[in-house]
Amino acid sequence: MHTRLYLFFAGIVAGNSATAASYSTPNCSALAQTTSLSAYNTSLLNTTYYPTGALNVSGTLNKVSLCEVYASVSYGTNDSLIFALWLPDTQYLSRFIAIGNGGEAGVINYDDMMEELNNNLGFAVAGGNAGHLASDNDAGVGPGAGSPGVYQPFFYDEDQVKAWLHNAISLLTPAAKATIKDFYGNEVEHSYYRGCSSGGAQGFSLAEFHPDLFDGIIAGCPANWFTHLMLSFLWNAQHTNTNETSLPATVLDFIQSRVLEACDDLDGVSDNLIENPLACSFNVSSLACVKDDLVKNSTCLTTSQLSAAKAIYNGPIRLDSPNTSLFPGLSLGSEAGWFLPQCSAALSNAFSVPLLQNLVYQNLSYDPVTFNWGSDVDYLDSRAGPLIDAINTNLSSFRNNGGKMIVSAGWADPNIAPMWSMQHVEAVTKNTIGDGITIEENDFLKLVMVPGGGHCGSGNAMYPYVPARYGLSAALVAWVETGHEPLRGIKSWGPPNGDDRTRRLCTWPQVARWDAEGDVDDWESYTCR
Ligand SMILES: *[C@@H]1O[C@H](CO)[C@@H](O)[C@H](O)[C@H]1NC(C)=O
Ligand SMILES: *[C@@H]1O[C@H](CO)[C@@H](O)[C@H](O)[C@H]1NC(C)=O
Ligand SMILES: *[C@@H]1O[C@H](CO)[C@@H](O)[C@H](O)[C@H]1NC(C)=O
Ligand SMILES: *[C@@H]1O[C@H](CO)[C@@H](O)[C@H](O)[C@H]1NC(C)=O
Ligand SMILES: *[C@@H]1O[C@H](CO)[C@@H](O)[C@H](O)[C@H]1NC(C)=O
Ligand SMILES: *[C@@H]1O[C@H](CO)[C@@H](O)[C@H](O)[C@H]1NC(C)=O
Ligand SMILES: *[C@@H]1O[C@H](CO)[C@@H](O)[C@H](O)[C@H]1NC(C)=O
Ligand SMILES: *[C@@H]1O[C@H](CO)[C@@H](O)[C@H](O)[C@H]1NC(C)=O
Ligand SMILES: *[C@@H]1O[C@H](CO)[C@@H](O)[C@H](O)[C@H]1NC(C)=O
Ligand SMILES: *[C@@H]1O[C@H](CO)[C@@H](O)[C@H](O)[C@H]1NC(C)=O
Ligand SMILES: *[C@@H]1O[C@H](CO)[C@@H](O)[C@H](O)[C@H]1NC(C)=O
Repeated sequence: MHTRLYLFFAGIVAGNSATAASYSTPNCSALAQTTSLSAYNTSLLNTTYYPTGALNVSGTLNKVSLCEVYASVSYGTNDSLIFALWLPDTQYLSRFIAIGNGGEAGVINYDDMMEELNNNLGFAVAGGNAGHLASDNDAGVGPGAGSPGVYQPFFYDEDQVKAWLHNAISLLTPAAKATIKDFYGNEVEHSYYRGCSSGGAQGFSLAEFHPDLFDGIIAGCPANWFTHLMLSFLWNAQHTNTNETSLPATVLDFIQSRVLEACDDLDGVSDNLIENPLACSFNVSSLACVKDDLVKNSTCLTTSQLSAAKAIYNGPIRLDSPNTSLFPGLSLGSEAGWFLPQCSAALSNAFSVPLLQNLVYQNLSYDPVTFNWGSDVDYLDSRAGPLIDAINTNLSSFRNNGGKMIVSAGWADPNIAPMWSMQHVEAVTKNTIGDGITIEENDFLKLVMVPGGGHCGSGNAMYPYVPARYGLSAALVAWVETGHEPLRGIKSWGPPNGDDRTRRLCTWPQVARWDAEGDVDDWESYTCR
């Protein structure tokens, strides 16, 4: 069936007439018979061949034909992890990329797999379910989340908990690489990983616990201090849970529009976007109602609403030691995204409460209102930290192996405070390379702060015009394979409103400045400074 010559190129695919090393056609249906993965505790389940356009993931079709392989990895006492591997039978460039999970996972992230398959970088693409099934752990609020009072069995199996954020990707990677070798007849030359949110945590886990598996890692909006992220969700919910302290959408939109008025022009362009919120000295107290009873018109904040907003900007603190921050707060310009889920407590109910009830206290009647913001923080840290956090700031092994890493964070992320990424990258830089080294001088880890960026793409309804797709994989491939650091910036495109707008993303502490000429909606008109 697939008798075309199979072409490999060292660099850019130059058309049919290009001469390059050629290999015999991989045979998808034969793979199931010829491949044994028992050395990796893995069984190949099935293979399916998809011609171009035959695989439809959320409306996106595959631009290259591929062989899909499903396999099951056994691990722990009696556990298994299912993964899918997509092997393009043209345009493969000896590159492997593994895709991480979101939320509590239990499902394969096909959307991100499709994005990487289609991005012309010649990847074989793998993605797994993180070692448990969402269908066994769902609580009716969608895949990858829990609900108060609902039993989630994976939290009671230590192997499954560790697999979820620490080991899921390392469990599937050796078997995926072996399958790739069988299929194409050659070893993978370069291995990459991309994940966001919980997948960002999985990225830090790879660098910390499995530093020799990947040449390049992208950790977006990383949830790698998962325990304390849970505290930030709980904190925000507890500070907005009364009629007086709740922050309705109208109030949040009002705050964000005032913040934009105050901060937008600091970067030289009036584009309803704040390039660097840290450069803005907006004081939310300036929005206080002169008299609380005027608030109903949503053009000022009552004392209670002001306290609630300040609590969210500050992030959780230990109440037995008032100045100890437990996690950074959300940033200026992110406010419109707070409405759902923070202020309705949905985020806390989907993640913090289920984690406390199932993993930490193992008591489904546990009442999160009784959480003690002192001693219980220590209990959470000791119970769950070793199983789910990946916050070691010494990533020397990964760096010494030549590993490169890009961390990205959305300045308008309403879920995971972007300042966490910055603080953590600063700490990693210091502890891995040396005291006097700045983020800018870091030779293995770059931070990209996305102006107006939400949680893993868009997410703030007041920023429909902000590009929500980022060229991070292309930048990482260039860095790993040619040594060029992404210093001139990274292209972003694809705003939710469908506009043809592109912007330049820069590696922190650089920010994009408009060159004072050219289209403000073209990334080429900006320079990183
Ligand atoms: C692919 O492998 C299958 C099963 O081994 C075999 O029946 C088929 O003829 C092979 N196809 C090609 C084109 O070699
Ligand atoms: C396969 O599983 C066995 C038994 O659990 C374990 O000892 C071994 O290390 C595993 N092998 C690999 C390659 O993971
Ligand atoms: C292959 O296995 C996966 C995982 O068990 C399953 O979801 C899928 O339906 C199977 N596909 C075929 C064609 O049997
Ligand atoms: C792909 O799936 C979407 C639903 O996710 C559907 O609306 C669309 O028509 C499908 N496209 C094709 C070409 O089948
Ligand atoms: C192992 O897992 C299977 C499938 O979930 C289950 O049927 C079986 O009872 C488990 N065995 C043990 C010893 O836990
Ligand atoms: C909050 O407001 C709603 C509707 O205005 C009201 O029904 C409810 O009793 C109030 N709750 C409290 C605790 O005041
Ligand atoms: C913020 O504004 C309030 C009220 O206008 C004022 O009391 C406070 O000192 C200001 N804070 C800062 C840091 O400027
Ligand atoms: C709305 O609030 C603003 C700010 O406090 C106040 O100046 C204005 O008079 C209020 N308007 C109404 C209709 O209450
Ligand atoms: C906490 O911060 C306040 C004001 O920022 C300061 O006055 C106080 O001394 C600090 N307390 C401790 C224990 O550091
Ligand atoms: C579970 O939590 C409830 C509510 O806090 C408490 O009354 C009960 O004693 C707890 N059960 C156990 C076994 O700790
Ligand atoms: C980081 O870890 C390496 C070993 O992996 C060790 O040699 C080095 O001393 C550590 N650096 C610091 C600052 O702890």
